[in-house]
Amino acid sequence: MNTMQPCGIEDDDRQPPMNGLLEIAQRGLGLKPKRLPSWLFYDERGSALFEEICEQPEYYLTRREIALMDEHAASIADSLGSDVRLVEYGSGNARKTSQLLRQMHAPVAYVPVEISPEPLHQSVERLAREFPSLPVQPLCADFSKSLRLPIPPRASRRTVVYFPGSTIGNFESREAVALLRKIRNEMGDAGGILVGVDLKKDPAVIEAAYNDRAGVTAAFTLNMLARLNREIGSDFVLSQFSHRAHYNPMAGRIETHIVSRCAQQVKIGRASVAFREDEAIQVEYSCKYSVEDFAAMAARAGLAVERVWMDAKKMFSVQYLVRASTVAR
Ligand code: AVI
Repeated sequence: MNTMQPCGIEDDDRQPPMNGLLEIAQRGLGLKPKRLPSWLFYDERGSALFEEICEQPEYYLTRREIALMDEHAASIADSLGSDVRLVEYGSGNARKTSQLLRQMHAPVAYVPVEISPEPLHQSVERLAREFPSLPVQPLCADFSKSLRLPIPPRASRRTVVYFPGSTIGNFESREAVALLRKIRNEMGDAGGILVGVDLKKDPAVIEAAYNDRAGVTAAFTLNMLARLNREIGSDFVLSQFSHRAHYNPMAGRIETHIVSRCAQQVKIGRASVAFREDEAIQVEYSCKYSVEDFAAMAARAGLAVERVWMDAKKMFSVQYLVRASTVAR
């Protein structure tokens, strides 16, 4: 059941309990090849490191998306129309949201959905200051699960789910289709999805974005092991592991691994997990799309791409999806 926190944030938080985390780690490290889910990156330090990644010169995604919003937010707002309820998935610090909200016509409410309470609090406070007359209805929840959205303060013409930042790229295509289908149900007949999609480009540029020279991405990746040590008492020695991120051109994605530097044993609860030298744990995919690839994936979820905006360098896109049967021809 949803519970109301004192700050007015609705709490629909379905993060697994701590023994759940131990089970997740044991199960993932028992797989062949080993695999851990990428949401494990985002504890407090991981979220701060991700913010730092966004500032790195090689990590073009954030800068290109902000440039795109600078150029096209007014046109995007026109396409969404007036009296929209804007629901943002994984709102984090909601920086691009301000760019959009400034241009929107009489938005009914803004509903940030974020699993981490701290960034949610901060973004709500900032947006409430910047948009004092906009009803903000935060929801602390995992957007990949089915959501109970708060009742809007007045009737809206449509619900638009805003999913910026190329987070859709962190889902494998089957999962991404399932997520898009779930959003399609939540948004209703008249609704839409505004999604940030990173585009295919020179693999060297993509690879550099996930291997910044300052080593922030490597620290972000290895922080997953520090989190496990703290939360489930495992004994990973971080210096015995390294970060590896390679672009797989066939799959069109960055594949990130944590690689064991030597043969070693790690304690996970009561079990001991063996690592061979160079053995890898797969921890993240970051999928890149052509405009055609993404339209084909949207079609599998019963959605049609109504508009695509790109930044001036055509590195990043924001796309507006509606139910396939309702697209204007
Ligand atoms: C959040 N997500 C879109 C980022 C990405 O580009 O896949 C996460 C990230 N991982 C390493 N660098 C950034």
